[in-house]
Amino acid sequence: MSQNIADRYNQLHARSLSDPAGFWGEVAEEITWFKRWDKVLDDSNLPFARWFKGGVLNTCYNAIDRHVEAGRGEQRAIIYDSPVTNTIATITYRELRDQVAGFAGALRHLGVEKGDRVIIYMPMIPQTLVAMFACARLGAVHSMVFGGFAPHELATRIADAKPRVVVSASCGIEPNRLVKYKSMVDAAIEESEHKPERCIIFQRPQEKAALLPGRDIDWNDAVADAVPADCVPVNATDPLYILYTSGTTGRPKGSVRDNGGHAVALKWTMKNFYNVEPGEVYWAASDVGWVVGHSYIVYAPLLHGCTTIVFEGKPVGTPNAGTFWRVIEQHKVPTLFTAPTAFRAIKREDPRAEYLKKYDLSHFRALFMAGERSDPDTLRWAEENLKVPVIDHWWQTETGWAICGNPLGTHLYPVKYGSACRPMPGYDMHVLDPGRQELPCGESGGLFSKLPLPPGTLTTLWNDDEGFKKTYFSTHPGYYETGDAGYIDEDGYVYVMSRTDDIINVAGHRLSTGEMEGILAAHPDVAECAVIGTADQLKGQVPLGFLVLKAGVNRPHHEVVKEVIQMVRNQIGPVADFKHAVVVERLPKTRSGKVLRGTMQKIADHQEFKVPPTIEDAAVLTEIAEALSDTRPH
Ligand code: COA
Ligand code: AMP
Repeated sequence: MSQNIADRYNQLHARSLSDPAGFWGEVAEEITWFKRWDKVLDDSNLPFARWFKGGVLNTCYNAIDRHVEAGRGEQRAIIYDSPVTNTIATITYRELRDQVAGFAGALRHLGVEKGDRVIIYMPMIPQTLVAMFACARLGAVHSMVFGGFAPHELATRIADAKPRVVVSASCGIEPNRLVKYKSMVDAAIEESEHKPERCIIFQRPQEKAALLPGRDIDWNDAVADAVPADCVPVNATDPLYILYTSGTTGRPKGSVRDNGGHAVALKWTMKNFYNVEPGEVYWAASDVGWVVGHSYIVYAPLLHGCTTIVFEGKPVGTPNAGTFWRVIEQHKVPTLFTAPTAFRAIKREDPRAEYLKKYDLSHFRALFMAGERSDPDTLRWAEENLKVPVIDHWWQTETGWAICGNPLGTHLYPVKYGSACRPMPGYDMHVLDPGRQELPCGESGGLFSKLPLPPGTLTTLWNDDEGFKKTYFSTHPGYYETGDAGYIDEDGYVYVMSRTDDIINVAGHRLSTGEMEGILAAHPDVAECAVIGTADQLKGQVPLGFLVLKAGVNRPHHEVVKEVIQMVRNQIGPVADFKHAVVVERLPKTRSGKVLRGTMQKIADHQEFKVPPTIEDAAVLTEIAEALSDTRPH
């Protein structure tokens, strides 16, 4: 296939690189500004690009109030569909504005002002969006923490973000249990050296949490007497939110998102990438705790005037593998965005897609996948059964929107299985080797984007400008290091194949094996350890630990294994899905002492491997293979 250089998207992308200020300046007209920007792009201090410098706006105003003022007040802003509580409810734009203004008033009453941080640890309920928008309304900076993280992870985020207030709920609902959020908040605050002044707790009917007098306040009491707050004008470059991802050092990395660039970029994607019109329903079946949830459950759909779905359930088991089709039919959903894992789960339970036959999906136009690489089998299964375009797109917490994808709303390129398709506007992708040589088409290396990054991408790491520079820009100055490896083919399609660091992707969730190793190493009987990601048919990857015990430890191995599994669950949380570890005599290492994790992974995945010439003792590899065959985790 040859590249059609005249196609509309190609021209648009080329312009975004040659004239970023012209390109994004035009796109920014879609946003309502209280004061227009002085400069579209200030790139005088890269990598700290500043978009729409001098511009003043409010993200909440753009996502909610302006639609009410434009006559959309009675349109549904949120559909709350919760199979785990048997609830379906709707909130109009007018109702949402009033609820958000009321909650913003409550936050203000507790002392929250522009620039203050608020940590939100909430399940998939509309109140979570209300809390996020209320922060945006005040110019306060929210930081959401995913409910599957343990109190320790919450504590590290509280310590780093230093919130004035924490907003939480009494519980979340997993299909097999109630998750008691409030007691985890208590434990996290106990552990953190920073203590928030107040906690606002939304009491759900399924669980009434005990409140600490003087510190905790019931959500309903907080809003009862609150004076509704208006939208506070903020600079385009002011932070909207911090979103943490696990880091290898035990200190999480807080990606900072600004207001102006974020609103502009997300608004652009809704029509040009997802091909959705204002007034339509938009569904991202993710969790608000992840970046996909921030961008495509909360901000982008409402910036575009769509109706967003807050879905509190799972693709299977709530109650069955037909749930997604039921939601699509019932709420007339034209496009769905989810992770390939969700489809693998559906396919595993209903391989012949029998449930699909029960529903009318004639209005359904496209499926978008992200969070992990879309394996060709799952993608084909979805295509064959749904009979609509299935579009893989690649992104990261850091970027906030797709780096590469197939822009359905502008120009749909032929699908190449296994590829996330073409770079989005502003992304200038290169495959570089360690010596900064550009690698030819088809050759694998690190994936980098030449600076400046487009609007909406991270502006720094919270409280850590140096860490920002070191993490993303030190390998090849002038280029953003994605941390992913892959190649670009002759048609400009990008293939994202693996990570270049210790990150693994478990059910679309990003986790650090280095962090898990730090936890295992703290067990008193463990002398050395390694954690790798092994292939898993449902979750893509799952972590697997290797433990070398200290000399003289005579306890049964399974006891130590059980304890380290519990330690990871206690410290990172159930989301880590750390369920398997094996005890080995020693770890395979190079002569210089580097643990050969890549080779261990190949052995665990039954892949062919070459014995590394630098290995200290090749016999260890046989020992590893035997240990794994004795205690096959899957
Ligand atoms: N709060 C508390 N605990 C949570 C949680 C939350 N919000 N989300 C997940 N967990 C827990 C689960 O209960 C489970 O605990 P367990 O070990 O006690 O069973 C653990 O974390 C792992 O959860 P999960 O990864 O969801 O696995 P699962 O086996 O329960 O479900 C899937 C498998 C495929 C159905 C599920 O992973 C899924 O829906 N994946 C889609 C992923 C996705 O949307 N990713 C977002 C990126 S776009
Ligand atoms: P997160 O920051 O949690 O969104 O995770 C980002 C990481 O997930 C990326 O760096 C990739 O490793 C992986 N990822 C996300 N989407 C894709 C995709 N479409 N193809 C391949 N990898 C992906």
